[in-house]
Amino acid sequence: MDSVKIPFLLLMLLLAKCDSCPGRCQCCLNDICGDYFGYNQACKDGCKNGYYQPRCMWLCSEHCQYCGQMDGVCLICQPGFYAPSDECSNACEYRNCACAQTDCDYCLDGFYDVSQHCNSACSKGCIEEKCNDNGSCDCVEYFKGNTCDMCVLGKYGELCNNDCINDNCGCTNSTNCISCKAGYFSSLCSKSCSVGCKNICNNEGHCSCHSQFTGSNCENCKPGYYGDNCTTPCTNGCINGTCNRDGTCDCLSNFTGARCETCVVGHYGDSCDKPCGLGCTGNICNKDDGTCICEYNYKGAICDICNDGYFGIYCNSFCPDRCYKCSSIENCLACKEGFFGLDCTHQCSANCLGSHCDKCCGLCTDGCMDGFTAAACNDKCDSICKACSQTNSTHCLSCFGGYSGPSCKCLPNCQCELNSEACNGCTNGFEIESKYCKCNKKYCVDYLNCPSCLNDSFYTYNGTCCECSTNCRNGQCVSEDQCLNGCEDGYTGADCADLCIDYDVNCIKCGQVERYCVICESGFSPNTESVCARQCSDTCFNKECDAKTGQCLQGCNERYWGHNCNNSCHPSCISCLQENGTCTRCANNSLISFGDHCATQCSETCVNKLCNDTTGQCLQGCIRNFYADKCDLECPSTCASEPNKTRCDNYGRCLHGCREGYKGITCASATSTPKSDASVGKLIGGTVGGAITIVSVVIVIVVFLYMKRRKLHKKPSESGNQRAFRNPNPFTIEDQEMHYQQLSNRHNTTAGAQQLSVRHNTTAGVQDEAYTELQTNNMDYELLDI
Ligand SMILES: *[C@@H]1O[C@H](CO)[C@@H](O)[C@H](O)[C@H]1NC(C)=O
Ligand SMILES: *[C@@H]1O[C@H](CO)[C@@H](O)[C@H](O)[C@H]1NC(C)=O
Ligand SMILES: *[C@@H]1O[C@H](CO)[C@@H](O)[C@H](O)[C@H]1NC(C)=O
Ligand SMILES: *[C@@H]1O[C@H](CO)[C@@H](O)[C@H](O)[C@H]1NC(C)=O
Ligand SMILES: *[C@@H]1O[C@H](CO)[C@@H](O)[C@H](O)[C@H]1NC(C)=O
Ligand SMILES: *[C@@H]1O[C@H](CO)[C@@H](O)[C@H](O)[C@H]1NC(C)=O
Ligand SMILES: *[C@@H]1O[C@H](CO)[C@@H](O)[C@H](O)[C@H]1NC(C)=O
Ligand SMILES: *[C@@H]1O[C@H](CO)[C@@H](O)[C@H](O)[C@H]1NC(C)=O
Ligand SMILES: *[C@@H]1O[C@H](CO)[C@@H](O)[C@H](O)[C@H]1NC(C)=O
Ligand SMILES: *[C@@H]1O[C@H](CO)[C@@H](O)[C@H](O)[C@H]1NC(C)=O
Ligand SMILES: *[C@@H]1O[C@H](CO)[C@@H](O)[C@H](O)[C@H]1NC(C)=O
Ligand SMILES: *[C@@H]1O[C@H](CO)[C@@H](O)[C@H](O)[C@H]1NC(C)=O
Repeated sequence: MDSVKIPFLLLMLLLAKCDSCPGRCQCCLNDICGDYFGYNQACKDGCKNGYYQPRCMWLCSEHCQYCGQMDGVCLICQPGFYAPSDECSNACEYRNCACAQTDCDYCLDGFYDVSQHCNSACSKGCIEEKCNDNGSCDCVEYFKGNTCDMCVLGKYGELCNNDCINDNCGCTNSTNCISCKAGYFSSLCSKSCSVGCKNICNNEGHCSCHSQFTGSNCENCKPGYYGDNCTTPCTNGCINGTCNRDGTCDCLSNFTGARCETCVVGHYGDSCDKPCGLGCTGNICNKDDGTCICEYNYKGAICDICNDGYFGIYCNSFCPDRCYKCSSIENCLACKEGFFGLDCTHQCSANCLGSHCDKCCGLCTDGCMDGFTAAACNDKCDSICKACSQTNSTHCLSCFGGYSGPSCKCLPNCQCELNSEACNGCTNGFEIESKYCKCNKKYCVDYLNCPSCLNDSFYTYNGTCCECSTNCRNGQCVSEDQCLNGCEDGYTGADCADLCIDYDVNCIKCGQVERYCVICESGFSPNTESVCARQCSDTCFNKECDAKTGQCLQGCNERYWGHNCNNSCHPSCISCLQENGTCTRCANNSLISFGDHCATQCSETCVNKLCNDTTGQCLQGCIRNFYADKCDLECPSTCASEPNKTRCDNYGRCLHGCREGYKGITCASATSTPKSDASVGKLIGGTVGGAITIVSVVIVIVVFLYMKRRKLHKKPSESGNQRAFRNPNPFTIEDQEMHYQQLSNRHNTTAGAQQLSVRHNTTAGVQDEAYTELQTNNMDYELLDI
């Protein structure tokens, strides 16, 4: 207690004296001196270094730089000394240490390791050459290491500012590499380790290999692989499946390319063993799938199919004309559009839609043109349909004139039930079913009141306007009951609701009020009573015909036939029979032919080849050595010939006698040895036996007598007939007589004789004129010849 009181008292004394000597306060910090801390005259801000006591009048201890103002306890030593608590009695002794509390508080910049009194200098590679107490620091450029005491690769020298030979090299001088960057080797670190090395390689480049690599330096790929990482398999075109590092190899046959990766021209497939399609342009195809660009006559992905219209191994034969696809010239598989049949020779019906029909039978495959139906579209739709179902001609698909429904019975603008097709309500703004939905307010001049309609095509009805009947001419009317301009053809009545044909079946246009017919059906015309009567054909002779049937009553004009003469005769006929057209006269200048249609040529053997156009009888007789009406028989060869003269007459009788050894009118019999009576001998046949000769003689005599008698009998008509037989005549009287009788039997009237004389004037020829007109046949002579 006392020890505290005494300095306090001393202090009080001193303070009491400060007033009177201001100079005592000269050690005050900032020279501020006043009444503080309960003292008068004390240093407010403390003391200058080395002093203490309220008025800073006392010195701190030696080597102490700063001590407590009140107690003088040393707080900071003077530089070069340390341990204030120890009166700063120790002098500092380490150059690189900061020394105040201890002999080495911490290291000065540029040094480190307090524990060793900072005797280590920081590396030159440290930024500002400062480092942590363990020497570590942040490095300036080109330095590395914990303490930045090493150069980065590629640099050397104290300041790491010299270049090694390359950046992979850690060196001591430019060429003395002592370490290489990972992945490099050789004395100058100029070689890189193979990529096949699992990690770094040694100085020789040796290393352990990744799985894909092989070789001491792992520089090769395992067999069968190539590429930077040896992961690419060699192509399958490589022999033995092995290739060089870049993939090149020796190729198997059919392969080509640096890596044998493609096929030689003309091949494809994994093994290049498939030939490209025959149709590939340039024989080139895609290696993988064989696809290619086809020649014009091939198709298909690999061009191995003949194009449409071609066939054959090389697809260079043309299918037949209308065949679209074939396997041979005989076997057409598909026809060109519009044709069908085995050889596509038939044309699809024009009624087939798109002209498409099936090859077999011409059945339309895409349906029919409007109006046609059935499998081959060769039937007509029910006339009410515009188009109909192909399988049901009465099932309409579309209708004319706004009608609708499967039977086209649904009126325009009507809503119909499907089955009945009866109007069941109006649509499209139309109204009034009883007027068949033909009324619509849109036809009104004023929609609300509808006082009148747009024009004469409509009439007003119960506040709306309805279309006039189509039977009204131009569809115009005044009212429902009165057409404006009369009726359309075929209708009559004020409202044109009646049909003309109801009172005259053949009338197609009649008066509206009075019922006279104006125009009749073709073939009819209004007669004086304005009733339709049959019109006679122009080809009726005199234009007269039956009013009902039209049959021409007086036959036909030339060149026509038929009951109403509407058929033409055959072109080579001038006239023909009305009932069946059989030719009655051949056309002018066609006397060279005859028959029903003047189609048969006159016989070549007619003189001038002229004949009667109905019968074929030669008009000017026969040429030499022919006979009969049509001169179609040759004179017997047994007749004797005279120069420039015919051998026989029109009946085949020899005119100049017989050739030697023959006899008879037609020289048909052979003579026996010429020894008997000349006149009789001619009649008696050659070597006939005695009995026959006798019988013959008797017959001849009888006949002779008979003839003689008859001749006398017939005297009155003799002149005409005699004329007929008066020509040069090789026959005996008996011959003539016999023959004459035959002729008379056939022409047993005087008409025959008359005809002869008439004919006689006009005929000319080498032949016996009289005979030419006589109707007969050869049989007559055969009988006579015996
Ligand atoms: C060195 O000292 C620094 C700073 O004290 C520290 O971050 C670093 O880890 C130390 N290094 C070693 C190797 O002890
Ligand atoms: C580099 O250092 C090596 C080894 O110390 C020495 O043999 C060589 O001569 C030096 N080269 C140069 C150019 O200093
Ligand atoms: C080789 O392997 C490396 C690393 O796996 C990869 O990045 C590179 O693309 C590969 N190269 C080839 C050519 O496969
Ligand atoms: C393929 O292998 C056989 C047998 O191993 C060898 O004789 C031949 O030389 C090899 N061919 C090539 C091109 O490598
Ligand atoms: C090469 O291709 C042809 C077909 O053009 C084939 O017959 C032959 O076998 C192929 N050769 C080989 C070795 O595959
Ligand atoms: C054909 O169509 C009509 C109208 O639709 C129908 O009445 C008839 O039953 C149909 N006939 C057949 C065989 O389907
Ligand atoms: C009447 O009007 C209708 C509708 O505008 C029209 O189609 C028709 O041609 C017209 N008729 C006459 C005769 O002007
Ligand atoms: C006329 O029109 C009135 C009102 O629109 C309607 O009630 C009446 O049934 C119609 N008469 C005829 C005959 O359509
Ligand atoms: C001639 O009329 C009849 C019936 O009048 C007819 O059958 C025939 O086809 C018509 N012939 C010609 C060629 O017009
Ligand atoms: C034509 O009619 C005539 C006379 O009725 C008859 O003689 C002739 O045989 C008929 N012709 C044919 C080819 O029917
Ligand atoms: C053809 O013969 C017939 C029948 O004998 C006869 O009516 C007709 O007048 C003859 N025609 C000519 C051109 O002589
Ligand atoms: C037969 O006719 C030819 C010419 O028509 C004539 O030259 C010849 O003299 C005639 N012969 C006799 C025997 O009349």
